[in-house]
Amino acid sequence: MSIMKTYKRFDLNFVRGEGSYLYEKNGDKYLDFVAGIAVNALGHSNKDVVEAIKNQAEKLIHISNLYFDDNQINLADKLIELSDHESVFFCNSGTEAIETSLKIARKYGYERGKSVILYMQNSFHGRSLGALSVTGQEKYQKYFKPLIADVVPVEFNNIEDLESKMSNQVCAVIVEPIQGEGGINEIESKFLNEIKKICDEWDALLIFDEVQAGVGRTGKFFAYQNYSVVPDVVAMAKGLGAGVPIGAVMVNKKADILTYGDHGCTFGGNPLVTAVSNVVVDKISDDNFLMDVTIKGNYLKHQLEEMTDEIDFVKKIKGKGLIIGVEFDTSRIEIKKIVEKALEKKLLIIGAGAETIRLVPPLTVSIDEINDFISIFKEILESFLE
Ligand SMILES: Cc1ncc(COP(=O)(O)O)c(C=O)c1O
Repeated sequence: MSIMKTYKRFDLNFVRGEGSYLYEKNGDKYLDFVAGIAVNALGHSNKDVVEAIKNQAEKLIHISNLYFDDNQINLADKLIELSDHESVFFCNSGTEAIETSLKIARKYGYERGKSVILYMQNSFHGRSLGALSVTGQEKYQKYFKPLIADVVPVEFNNIEDLESKMSNQVCAVIVEPIQGEGGINEIESKFLNEIKKICDEWDALLIFDEVQAGVGRTGKFFAYQNYSVVPDVVAMAKGLGAGVPIGAVMVNKKADILTYGDHGCTFGGNPLVTAVSNVVVDKISDDNFLMDVTIKGNYLKHQLEEMTDEIDFVKKIKGKGLIIGVEFDTSRIEIKKIVEKALEKKLLIIGAGAETIRLVPPLTVSIDEINDFISIFKEILESFLE
């Protein structure tokens, strides 16, 4: 096999997808509660997405950001209309959205004679050297040091630690509203309010990494809309393209500081991906769609709570909307074994952090599919009780 060994892959080779299901080469059908790691927001082979790809591919796939294209203009206008922000930069991935955000932070700092970026322990922001530098998990950073300078970790949800690290040298604070890879850990409102207060006091930017939790996944279009705080910078990707590679960074007036020559991205927001993303945003931003995500998320959470009530190696059910975590006592049960057992039962799930199973199905998942998931997951957990 000539693919570099950067992923530990399961021995599965998928050839087709439909809604919440994936089909393996041998014909086996899998219920997909991974959704490309929170990417396939509209399920597999959504007909409107497929049509948008086909239609746009026949007209124009790529030009360059040297020129305008209505798909990109319309998508930017839509995101700005939905948000509290001023302008958008398009790129291809979450990591690139974070790199863009870090560069905005550094330029903001440059203009004020400061450069420190505060980030959270246990966070995940991507694998490039910049994004990795603010990813608070040693296992990802280990072989790649030295990383970028002037980045300081803060304990997530610890106000005292935050206050002790804040200074007139800080130009930005970056945080995930719900830590995804770190284990589906939600930010506490009082911690977030304190970050906002302290950023305002010290003239630093607040950057939200909504790469995993954004674009409808929490039941609000933007994850920040769950809180009373509006970040200066919002990084998005994953669900924004529902499977085509697109990332975006939105800024408010204060953070709208990148100008000609400061930044760029060859493929960023090309006609093909923005044509698709326009369809995705139209669908997901619909109030009924978002309400449905909230209802299904609450239902999934409630069913999980009820089902695991008597299972004492389940510690808690966490998350919001359709980004849910089941935390286990890993001295009693291994996350890897749960994932393997799920595969035997043709269910796709993944871990998040050392102790949590992450559930990020397509936002279009049905109540019947959630019920199917619950009955399979119940069988799996019960098999470990024997
Ligand atoms: C919160 C968060 N930020 C950034 C990234 C990096 O995104 P990408 O893999 O698209 O580069 C991820 C990916 O999992 C993520 O979950």
